[in-house]
Amino acid sequence: MTGNHDVVILGAGAAGLMCAIAAGQRGCRVVVLDHAPKIGSKILISGGGRCNFTNLHIAPDRFLSQNRHFATSALKRYTQHDFLALVNRHGIAWHEKTLGQLFCDGSARQIVAMLEAEATAAGVDIRTSHTVTGISRSDRFEVTTSGGRFDAPALVLATGGPAIPKMGATAFSHDVARQFGLRLVPPRPALVPLTLSGSALAFAANLSGVAVDATATFGRTQFRENILFTHRGVSGPAILQISSYWREGGEIVLDLCPGLDLAAFLRERRKGRPKAELRTAIGELLPARLAAALAEGGPDGRALVPAGTMANLSDKAIDAVAGALSAFRLTPAGSEGYAKAEVTLGGVDTADLSSRTMEAKAVPGLHVIGEAVDVTGWLGGYNFQWAWSSGWCAGLAI
Ligand code: FDA
Repeated sequence: MTGNHDVVILGAGAAGLMCAIAAGQRGCRVVVLDHAPKIGSKILISGGGRCNFTNLHIAPDRFLSQNRHFATSALKRYTQHDFLALVNRHGIAWHEKTLGQLFCDGSARQIVAMLEAEATAAGVDIRTSHTVTGISRSDRFEVTTSGGRFDAPALVLATGGPAIPKMGATAFSHDVARQFGLRLVPPRPALVPLTLSGSALAFAANLSGVAVDATATFGRTQFRENILFTHRGVSGPAILQISSYWREGGEIVLDLCPGLDLAAFLRERRKGRPKAELRTAIGELLPARLAAALAEGGPDGRALVPAGTMANLSDKAIDAVAGALSAFRLTPAGSEGYAKAEVTLGGVDTADLSSRTMEAKAVPGLHVIGEAVDVTGWLGGYNFQWAWSSGWCAGLAI
């Protein structure tokens, strides 16, 4: 038994490492166990290898949870500016890509190296390739692994969620939380491409690879970014964002010409270029392949852009085209699931955790942090910030 630790942290990912650093800096004896052969594997692949490590516009309303207020405390106590200061102290060059999203100029490896250096300086013991085979609790938590037994008065669940199982992601923290009587908000894939079926699928598949600036709306939630047609349906940032809000059977409404009074534009073209085809005028706004596909048959098989010259279009016809393209309706058949999801929605119910310390209210010493908790951020650095913030707060409380 390796029994002289103050805390055992399960998961050497973003949240677990940050928690280990905070606790280690306070003098706690920390061991981090991970079943993977290397630490921070999701950090390494994130942001296309450049890690979108935080966002300048972090705000609690950009996180989904059954308790909208739960994330506020941690996000305020360890902010995006705190993480950025750490990145700067390590001399890691970064840039803002778009919408406040901060990426490394170089490589995500720099973020992992930074976390590892901080953990080493704080005296943290990191053990990789340790498969946990059992967890029990008497006066201390006892963790049995393929590499020996560890015990401590505090246990932190930081193994993330089941998104991308082929990378070794598991629902382990959910299972252990349940073992200790914590409730779960049913997990589901989020920030995930959506699939289509029937004629809508044929329409999208034909356009596979075409991207267009659009708004995607579901209910009262709307995002404006690119959407991308794929051979299975739709993806791209606006779709990934809206996927976290979408529910089965629901309709997503796309505005393919956002920010434009399309009817006014078409009336203007009718006056200025009466002999031009309608699809040519639409082609000024949309990628050529998309304009052509809309003329041939929309997602329900009906042509949304009728044949003919601008001069022959009535006001009513113009309004119909403008209406169809600014409220382009898709009912996804489903999502591409955990295999393609960037994160997991749902997880350990925040009602059972302290928002200040991430400690289970009914199980003293047990903490849950990061993606395992029912807090899910928008696309764009929000999920890493939740990992840093929740990990830091738990690390201060151990
Ligand atoms: P994380 O998944 O980071 O760490 C969990 C750790 O636990 C891993 O090291 C894993 O090996 C280990 N583990 C799992 N099961 C275990 C078990 N049974 N026993 C022991 N160890 C176990 N977010 C963002 O803000 N910006 C971005 O750019 C991206 N990009 C991105 C790209 C892709 C492809 C994906 C899949 C995800 C992103 N994300 C992202 C999301 C981000 O990666 C995610 O929210 C955080 O990594 C969550 O941090 P955690 O520490 O909670 O889990």
